[in-house]
Amino acid sequence: MNETQNASMMPKLEWDEIFATGIDRFDDQHKVLFGFINVLRTNTVGKRNKEVVNEVVDSLLSYTMTHFLEEEITLCRLEFPGFADHKSEHDQFLMAVRDLYIRFKAGKGESRIIAAEIITVVSEWLQGHILVKDKAYGEFLLQHHFTPDMVK
Ligand SMILES: [Fe+2]
Ligand SMILES: [Fe+2]
Repeated sequence: MNETQNASMMPKLEWDEIFATGIDRFDDQHKVLFGFINVLRTNTVGKRNKEVVNEVVDSLLSYTMTHFLEEEITLCRLEFPGFADHKSEHDQFLMAVRDLYIRFKAGKGESRIIAAEIITVVSEWLQGHILVKDKAYGEFLLQHHFTPDMVK
């Protein structure tokens, strides 16, 4: 089985209460990220939709960066004890995804296969990160009366 088949056979990434951090703003952003992954997954099947794949990969990456920054600004502002560790996990992930993104954009390899690899890497990492690291800040932010203004 190749990467493309793998990605197309992955179950749809459904947001569920299990992923809830308790912070609506970030939960909503996680839902958007899941949505991008699902659109990508659907569009990597077959040779059509190359433009859609290209657009969604761009959106997924830029939205992920914005989301990470918002979390980091909030955690830094409220002096969350796990801030450095949280940011470092984001940074390591972004480095790995940037490499895939560069290969995808530079046309180094079959784009559908790289797109499928991006889906697999992002989808697996994101679920694990939300379940452990993002959920860990939820209660802290609630105790510190988080408001969306704090990311500005
Ligand atoms: Fe995070
Ligand atoms: Fe997050």
